[in-house]
Amino acid sequence: MKIAVGADHGGYPLKQTVMDELNRLGHTVVDCGAPAYDSKDDYPDLARAVGLAILRGQAERGILLCGSGVGASIAANKLRGVRAAVCHDTYSAAQGVEHDAMNVLCLGSRIIGEELAKALVRAFAAARFFTDPRFQRRLDKVIAIEQEQV
Ligand code: RB5
Repeated sequence: MKIAVGADHGGYPLKQTVMDELNRLGHTVVDCGAPAYDSKDDYPDLARAVGLAILRGQAERGILLCGSGVGASIAANKLRGVRAAVCHDTYSAAQGVEHDAMNVLCLGSRIIGEELAKALVRAFAAARFFTDPRFQRRLDKVIAIEQEQV
């Protein structure tokens, strides 16, 4: 699977760990930056880059890293079709995909360590949206909310 990865300066310490784990699992990383640590960069720019990579079909999913994961998720969810959430437990990282069609996992580098980050990446990347009609019905309602925005 092609997975876009983006990190601001708050998330940068875990960026390589996340990319290495994705590569180890056989996924293709679409690196959306930042290319190097930059204390002046802003998480909305990285969230936008990852979200657009998904909307343009360059990646199927994304992983965003900032200090807490919160800012990245807020920004990413502004793009129609992006469903981003902060998940710092493996149950949510998998269930968010299975039940909610989450397509962007947000992680906080100031909250979690390398091993948990890798476990979260594994849970997220291995999960697939369940085909049960009730999950599709709920996703359709989420999409309908997006479409009624003025
Ligand atoms: C950057 O200092 C920090 O505010 C940002 O990475 C993130 O934690 C926002 O949610």
